[in-house]
Amino acid sequence: MHVPGHKSGAVWHAGDSHDQEAGSAGALVDRLAGILPYDLTELPGLDDLHAPSGAIAEAETLAAACFGARETAFLVGGSTVGNLAAVLALVAPGDLVLVDRNAHKSIWHALQLAEARVVLLDTVVVDGVPFGPDPAQVIATMSAHPETKAVFLTRPTYYGTAIALKEIITHAQNLNIPVCVDEAHGAHYGLHAALPPSALALGADLVVQSTHKMLPALTMSAMLHMQGDRIPAARVRQLLRMLQSSSPSYPLLAGLDLARRYAATQAERDIAESLTLLNQTAEALGWALGADAFKWVITDPTGSRTGYELYETLQAAGFYPELADMRHVVLYHGLKVDAAILNKLVAVLSQMDVTLVAPRPESASPRTVAAAQVVTAFSRSQLAQPTRIVPVHEAVGERVAEMVIPYPPGVALLIPGERITAEVIATLAQLREAGAHVQGVADRTLRTIQIYD
Ligand SMILES: Cc1ncc(COP(=O)(O)O)c(C=O)c1O
Repeated sequence: MHVPGHKSGAVWHAGDSHDQEAGSAGALVDRLAGILPYDLTELPGLDDLHAPSGAIAEAETLAAACFGARETAFLVGGSTVGNLAAVLALVAPGDLVLVDRNAHKSIWHALQLAEARVVLLDTVVVDGVPFGPDPAQVIATMSAHPETKAVFLTRPTYYGTAIALKEIITHAQNLNIPVCVDEAHGAHYGLHAALPPSALALGADLVVQSTHKMLPALTMSAMLHMQGDRIPAARVRQLLRMLQSSSPSYPLLAGLDLARRYAATQAERDIAESLTLLNQTAEALGWALGADAFKWVITDPTGSRTGYELYETLQAAGFYPELADMRHVVLYHGLKVDAAILNKLVAVLSQMDVTLVAPRPESASPRTVAAAQVVTAFSRSQLAQPTRIVPVHEAVGERVAEMVIPYPPGVALLIPGERITAEVIATLAQLREAGAHVQGVADRTLRTIQIYD
């Protein structure tokens, strides 16, 4: 006598025989049927994500112990909702925060809702691959702005590249500034000695992980971890109650608990076995893997094919990469790799004349050590400000009124309020020619752009 209306799947059926879709609907019902008895509402004994005191509280406590946090909140809106809650809990209108340009759009959206003032940290790019900000620049900028309320960093990037966090965190702790790390792509960090240490182990105050990306949870499920006393945990929890559905999915929550169990009991062994196979495979191709051996950034050494073209070749051979950009295609391996699939991959890659890019942050040059200067004030009223649409080539010098995010990799090319330069317009033309997928813009063809009137 309660929702959901599928009644543990009893209401689902494939339709009658006159229905042309009955066959495929039947197959879908069969596939999904197993999960439906678990898709329930807050019944006695099932606990409540928004006031956990039973099974969910226990699962969150186990997760905190597993990942090394003082407190962990399960998320059913991805890292997206974790980032929104973190920013809105820590930043009041007009507060100054430090953010790297490589941040996910959820951070930009949150900064706009929070009405933050932002110092934009440059993203260091090595061999065409973004790393995130130079730690020296982050430290110099914190020192130049001791009033900074929080620092928001992304580590690792979509490409598996990671900046050195330790010195940033030590400096921030001396200034009592909380460091929040979007570790959406690094939930596996720290689970084996050969992988980089996790942001929590390095002392970050708040860490958001997409448990559904590198760990085996269901899509949309993620975790927000907190430690130390710089984070107002109760306020973060309140924001999560405001931002998340009042009907969180139990299959997602159960998947988070299973992923935690995997991380605690099986991951280290799987990672060890997979690393052996991945290194053998890379050796067969003459490649040396980077810090995160599970992410392979591949490029055409002659530069004559874009990452999008490489993607198509791989797709035609049955491999669907995680992302492509102008120069690269990125393959994500699971933590338990399959030797037969790797053999097939070697055969395909060796026909493609491609190389692996495994940039190291030490090779970043030039090192930027001056404090970042750009301060952008976000305001919620921007959402209501009059805008107009102009051809892109007429937009030089105007202030852009929409996010322009080539996706992947999801690094913002323009954020609302920024001036549009001739260089940015040239990049937009390149992206248009390459058929890149750009998020945030009203005109996906990139012929026009929205500016503030
Ligand atoms: C760096 C980064 N942070 C956050 C997110 C959002 O994660 P989710 O899809 O779990 O909401 C993404 C998504 O791709 C991401 O790349």
